[in-house]
Amino acid sequence: MKTFCFISPRWFGVAALALAAAGTLLADDTLDAATKARLEAFEKGPATIDITKYPEALKENYDLFSQKCTQCHKLSRPINSDYVLPDEWSRYVKRMMHKPGSGISSSDGKKIYEFLVYDSAVRKKAMLDDKLAKATAEDKATAEAAIKKVRDQYDGK
Ligand code: HEC
Repeated sequence: MKTFCFISPRWFGVAALALAAAGTLLADDTLDAATKARLEAFEKGPATIDITKYPEALKENYDLFSQKCTQCHKLSRPINSDYVLPDEWSRYVKRMMHKPGSGISSSDGKKIYEFLVYDSAVRKKAMLDDKLAKATAEDKATAEAAIKKVRDQYDGK
């Protein structure tokens, strides 16, 4: 009997490899147990932010954040993360932008960064104040200037 195979074994191998690679890049398979546990704890928290009192201009940034940052994990991961400082957000948004297939342009990344900096200064103020109190005078001044820049840009808009 003639066997019929419509996918050549060669292409099947390529597809399987591509899927495996995408899986490791997009998922958390490569993370150690402690990191996984930390991220799972974040993800158990709320998955939305009440932005009704936020500046109108910032609401678009929130939409972008909800679209772009839910492609590989829940939005509750960044929402409940312990990142609050502008530097932490800048580093992390760039790290996420550079993950293969993220589809986050640098202008989207900037808007998401601004949303996260604003949101951390309002919703996570206690955590932010705590980190600022522990920072060096120079880091504190840099962080406060970066927060002021974002607030000046959006407050009352
Ligand atoms: C292409 C997939 C992908 C996209 C898109 C993505 N993430 Fe992630 N994210 C990951 C992976 C994988 C991890 C865990 C490994 C790591 O930290 O790099 C992660 C981890 C995180 C963490 C936890 C870091 C920690 O260790 O505490 C935060 C916060 C986060 N992402 C925020 C965001 C934000 C904000 C966006 C949108 C700008 C975003 N992610 C978009 C894949 C993605």
